[in-house]
Amino acid sequence: MAQPPERVRLKDGREVEIRPIEPEDAEPLEAGLEELSDESRYRRFLTLKRGFSRAELAYLTTVDHHDHEALVAYGPGTDRGLGVARFVKDPQAPERAELAIVVADDWQGRGLGLALLNRLADRAVEEGVCTLTATVLESNRDIVALLRKVGPVDVSHPGGGVADLRIDIAEDEPCPPVMREALRAAARGELSLA
Ligand SMILES: CC(C)(COP(=O)(O)OP(=O)(O)OC[C@H]1O[C@@H](n2cnc3c(N)ncnc32)[C@H](O)[C@@H]1OP(=O)(O)O)[C@@H](O)C(=O)NCCC(=O)NCCS
Repeated sequence: MAQPPERVRLKDGREVEIRPIEPEDAEPLEAGLEELSDESRYRRFLTLKRGFSRAELAYLTTVDHHDHEALVAYGPGTDRGLGVARFVKDPQAPERAELAIVVADDWQGRGLGLALLNRLADRAVEEGVCTLTATVLESNRDIVALLRKVGPVDVSHPGGGVADLRIDIAEDEPCPPVMREALRAAARGELSLA
């Protein structure tokens, strides 16, 4: 069953509703891409993506909410999508997940990106993720500034005009989660680490 939206007040006093994505969000997602400026489009997709195929839309909106989670923002009572943030776990290293985020151009700079990112990072930690990764344009300073608000960011430069980012969201928690569980069990006296 779809989760009820959370009402969030942004720093300019405007309210938005944030909730996990559902298949019904396909149309607003498509419309959101259409209205995105070329700059935001390029920053999000690293290409001037013009539209989604049916398969892409299904992939982006029909998620399992564990290995793949996405949160969407709407203006209260409207069907205009204002932003989306998602993570997809690396199947080879599920404590790591690839992050993607975009906010509608006329809603940028109001705190919506941070609101989405904070909630996405919480969901990622709940699902056992310790590190979010993203490949972004080297010139995209906004995203690095934003990500630094949720955890330490490691930036590497593989070349080709992009930067690889790694954001540690596990704070002081031992990672990977299997180690976290073992340490908790040891603390409860249920497991000896000797
Ligand atoms: C990156 C993006 C998601 C940020 O969303 P946003 O709603 O504008 O961000 P916020 O308003 O929550 O800003 C949070 C912080 O990010 C940083 N930031 C955001 N926009 C910034 C800008 N234009 N210049 C400098 N810093 C900026 C600031 O640190 C800001 O904190 P502050 O408000 O206390 O100064 C948005 O700009 C976007 O959609 N960009 C295009 C897509 C993209 O780059 N995606 C990332 C790759 S997947």
